[in-house]
Amino acid sequence: MRKISSEQYDALLAGSRVLARDDFGDKVILLTAERILKLFRVKRTLSSAGLISYATRFRWNARRLAKRGFCVVKVLDTFRINQPPRTAVIYEMAPGETLRDRLSKSQADMQALLAKLAELLAQLHQSGIVFRSIHFGNVIVDDAGDFTLIDVSDCRFQRRPLSLIRRTRNFHHMLRYEDDRKLFDSIGVSEFLDFYNKTAQLPEAKLAVLNDGLNKLLATDAPQPHL
Ligand SMILES: Nc1ncnc2c1ncn2[C@@H]1O[C@H](COP(=O)(O)OP(=O)(O)O)[C@@H](O)[C@H]1O
Ligand SMILES: [Mg+2]
Repeated sequence: MRKISSEQYDALLAGSRVLARDDFGDKVILLTAERILKLFRVKRTLSSAGLISYATRFRWNARRLAKRGFCVVKVLDTFRINQPPRTAVIYEMAPGETLRDRLSKSQADMQALLAKLAELLAQLHQSGIVFRSIHFGNVIVDDAGDFTLIDVSDCRFQRRPLSLIRRTRNFHHMLRYEDDRKLFDSIGVSEFLDFYNKTAQLPEAKLAVLNDGLNKLLATDAPQPHL
């Protein structure tokens, strides 16, 4: 992966604004011209992230998702910097705000937006895709109610539609945060699955398994609040 110098990096950051940071530093930065820079820590271990960087996975996954017809941010560049040690991806900003922000502000389109999320999830599952970061903070919704996926470094692709176990696990990924569960409660499991199954078209018996799994998940887990 191409490396850029600290001078080039500083020039890139001129006029920028930090959108997200954690204990290790800046993570997501809004550059000028509506482009977003996302940084990934380079971990000095022998983990698989050392072999294929998160930035490269982001680029590959965005391309594969787009090829299969999903609306995902458009990647413009990937590179790495030495100080701090990071890989980076630059992509076009999607107009709108996260589904979490939108639903927290206004409940007006709650049902329509959650129905759309159910449909998106079913399309991903039927296409054999596990988007492991699919929670309400990683979907951007625009004024027309259309979705764009962000934060796509962690995806798995297979040829066949997902098994019930994988689908259930992915529901788990989607509802890992307390905030999102509260929003989800306004639609509830069976209504969400009704919308999901308009696209997934699973037989009743399989849908009942998903229904059970989702109810169990919501009853037993004690997720951390979103920070
Ligand atoms: N394409 C985009 N359009 C609009 N806002 C974005 C976009 N990408 C990221 N953001 C904003 O930046 C925040 C963090 O981005 P994200 O890639 O999810 O990073 P992380 O989850 O690792 O903090 C999002 O919650 C959103 O508010
Ligand atoms: Mg995110």
